[in-house]
Amino acid sequence: MIQIEKISFSIHGDGRGSLIAVENNKEIPFEIKRVYYIYGTNDGVTRGLHAHKKLKQVAICVSGSCTITLFDGFDKKQIFLDKPSEGLIIKEMIWREMHDFSEDCVLLVLASELYDEADYIRDYNEFMEAVKNDIYS
Ligand code: TYD
Repeated sequence: MIQIEKISFSIHGDGRGSLIAVENNKEIPFEIKRVYYIYGTNDGVTRGLHAHKKLKQVAICVSGSCTITLFDGFDKKQIFLDKPSEGLIIKEMIWREMHDFSEDCVLLVLASELYDEADYIRDYNEFMEAVKNDIYS
């Protein structure tokens, strides 16, 4: 069974509104080397459709909502994200698909490594082969 690991961030709320802070190796279980965000996603679009050999990520839906499907080669889970106070951990060697983005969705991603195309597995059959043969563990 694929384990879904979510992090609940503390909200520093007061009369003005809310603030969430995350730090390396505290709320986030790795050193953050890169941050990117996905927004303005067109209707019906699915993003991701790849796995990473080493990269770990935490995905936070800071606005709106989206669904992330995670697949470890055996088991698949759909996770609905709609809270800025919740982070989804996506470990290495997990096939991910992001879909059903609301118009106002901003999906923030914190990553453990700099961008490296060589770390991507974009071919589904190659991913299944790698899982079967335990290549990148
Ligand atoms: P892509 O991997 O297709 O995004 P997704 O996983 O959401 O489907 O990335 C889209 C483009 O952005 C592609 O040309 C690579 C580039 N990119 C970077 O330059 N740096 C990054 O950190 C990321 C995630 C993507």
